[in-house]
Amino acid sequence: MMNITIILYLFSFSSCINAFISIYDSSTYDNSLIPESIKYAYNYYSSNISNKYNLNKQSNDYKVIPDLLPGYQSIKNSNIYKKPKDMFSGRISINEELKHSLYFWKFNREHTDHDVDNNPLVFFINGGPGCSSMDGLLLENGPFRVDDDGLLTPNEGSWHMQADIVYIDQPLGTGFSTKLDSKEKDIDFYDTDLINDSSKNMIIFLIEYFKIFPHDKHKNIILAGESYAGQYILHFINNIWKFNKLIDEEGHELEKINVDTVMLGNAWVDPYEQSASYLPFFQKEGLFKQDNLKLKKILNLQEKCQQNINNMNIDDLVSDNDIKDCDSIMYQFISSVFDPTIKDQKDKCLNVYDYRLTENAPSCGMDWPYELSNINKFFHKEGVQEALNIFDTRDDYDTNDAVIKWTECSSKVGSFIKQHNRDTVPSIRILPSLLEQGLKLYLFNGDKDIICNHLGVENYVKKLVWQDKQFNENATWHEWYHESEVVGSFIKDRNVVLINIINGSHMVPYDKPLESRALFHIMDMLESNDKVDDPTNQYTIETFNYNLRKERIVFIKDELPEEILVEDEKEHHEESEIDQSDDEDSDDESDDEDNEKLRAQTHASLPNWLLTILFIALLVYILKYMFDAIIKKNFFSGNQIHSQRLFGSENSNSKQMHSSRLNEDLEPGLGNSEFDIEMDNNELDSNVLDDLDITKD
Ligand SMILES: *[C@@H]1O[C@H](CO)[C@@H](O)[C@H](O)[C@H]1NC(C)=O
Ligand SMILES: *[C@@H]1O[C@H](CO)[C@@H](O)[C@H](O)[C@H]1NC(C)=O
Ligand SMILES: *[C@@H]1O[C@H](CO)[C@@H](O)[C@H](O)[C@H]1NC(C)=O
Ligand SMILES: *[C@@H]1O[C@H](CO)[C@@H](O)[C@H](O)[C@H]1NC(C)=O
Repeated sequence: MMNITIILYLFSFSSCINAFISIYDSSTYDNSLIPESIKYAYNYYSSNISNKYNLNKQSNDYKVIPDLLPGYQSIKNSNIYKKPKDMFSGRISINEELKHSLYFWKFNREHTDHDVDNNPLVFFINGGPGCSSMDGLLLENGPFRVDDDGLLTPNEGSWHMQADIVYIDQPLGTGFSTKLDSKEKDIDFYDTDLINDSSKNMIIFLIEYFKIFPHDKHKNIILAGESYAGQYILHFINNIWKFNKLIDEEGHELEKINVDTVMLGNAWVDPYEQSASYLPFFQKEGLFKQDNLKLKKILNLQEKCQQNINNMNIDDLVSDNDIKDCDSIMYQFISSVFDPTIKDQKDKCLNVYDYRLTENAPSCGMDWPYELSNINKFFHKEGVQEALNIFDTRDDYDTNDAVIKWTECSSKVGSFIKQHNRDTVPSIRILPSLLEQGLKLYLFNGDKDIICNHLGVENYVKKLVWQDKQFNENATWHEWYHESEVVGSFIKDRNVVLINIINGSHMVPYDKPLESRALFHIMDMLESNDKVDDPTNQYTIETFNYNLRKERIVFIKDELPEEILVEDEKEHHEESEIDQSDDEDSDDESDDEDNEKLRAQTHASLPNWLLTILFIALLVYILKYMFDAIIKKNFFSGNQIHSQRLFGSENSNSKQMHSSRLNEDLEPGLGNSEFDIEMDNNELDSNVLDDLDITKD
């Protein structure tokens, strides 16, 4: 995945704060200032400046030539996947004079009966900083994956079945948003910070994009991204809203940028809470044990990291100091579970994006996912860059007309931001203000990620204060079923929804494509049902693969009578309060019919002899069951079948997990002392000295 050294910047992306409680409260941050860069973007918009490179460009000029894409022709439709037809790709100029442009690849939603103007429109951005969003497109939630030969294959969990989606390579220098003039100085090209440069560039990109795709202006825009995009995206929406405010105040006839929703996957938002969460996370996952080879060293680092956080001053807000000792906790840990004196454990480390995987140092996740090299193959195949209008003889900026070398992550982009980003506060600082202004925030986390782990996210979410109220301490965790299996859980208070995805890595859609797409159903349901407004209400959500069945919310009454549990599934759902959201899909009715037919066919095609055997087996089972029950004087209490599903063992485990996460006194993260479990105090004291040696390692 991204380069580890780049990721280190995330952790050094510090600044700030003595009063740790107050950074989570909107009242402690003055977010009213409109930066010069945003005023510039507004002036650019209101004076209707025309950029000669974009002039008269229409969507047709960006059409992808699909048949030039290797593998495209052999892709088949299925009932949950339709091959993308309308694709647009190329560069949009954001600065005429300097010939700066950002690259995008856009897919229209595949949905025959759909009211195309009402599709949500997702802009998707990967992290880094400096990692190409082609990661998202070809490894995660895009319509294609790439096989070992560099050929496109379908991704059945693609988000283009739920929304129009546009992948953008930004900031400048990332992916195909390359420097086209080799003589240009870095300082004039790379973004120095997320407000002055990245936000301004993004807004100008959107202004120019909507000139080319005018229908998209009226769609509900969702900004979505992963990892470091937790910094970008919150700054983007903050500045887009400031830009809109200028339009409100001064430019009545101009159209605003219509965005209020953000989806962030395993995102880096709060450097303080997330840095402090590593050790508590390792403990919770049962990875950090007393026999850990670097136990003392790691506990020491945690203590120092915590002290450094606690001692930070609000005046350091604009500085660029590392949160010293915090990042090394993770790096020490990932090798500490291996014993270097054992031959085949030497140089081993855990993958920081998925702790189930073991790697060889110094990679530790850098080369993950393993399909990454396939993407390189794909982009350098003949015809591909031509099909995507990257290699474009009509494109005036690119006078070279040479194939561009695609690299996943640019370390130059990352280091430039790291060096110069002195005016941008970490996005946690502006988050409470954004929530106050009505941001709809969906945070989803794969539970196997280390680097932006779910615990760190939960910890900062629980501290957030907006509308004078902290995130509700009594909010209930809800189970999420997908295709009748528990795949995750979520918690909601007002406009914040936090979703955990079981067995998901740092790149959730990579491991869990179908579930990741079902996030759209969760959003639909939660936004269309008033009963979910009470954060303590108990309910579960069920989602199904697209166009198979509708999603539903099942509200659980306080004491669910056992009789209901033994009823069959259909009746059970009629008994409970069922809310089927008004899914916008107008063809759902016919889909249901189709599925009924499909089910009927499946039944009809079962041979009679098989049915007979099944019937006998069932009879024998029931008789045996009744016999056992009579023996135990516990005649058919009957909650077995359903309790497996609703309150079964897996289920109650995860409930326990949640309640302990939510209710524990330990407060993992800032100010916590959870890591001193079973540690002898003397040992802790001596560690401080020990650590001095460690830093020399
Ligand atoms: C960013 O813009 C502000 C004014 O809006 C300015 O004070 C600051 O120096 C700029 N930072 C950089 C790195 O250009
Ligand atoms: C902006 O400029 C374009 C062409 O340069 C023109 O077609 C359009 O009408 C102008 N819009 C406004 C609001 O002046
Ligand atoms: C949470 O529940 C406890 C115990 O019932 C109650 O004292 C507290 O006020 C509740 N908190 C909120 C925010 O409702
Ligand atoms: C998660 O992974 C474990 C181990 O492979 C497996 O037993 C379990 O069924 C998986 N659960 C989900 C929801 O994917």
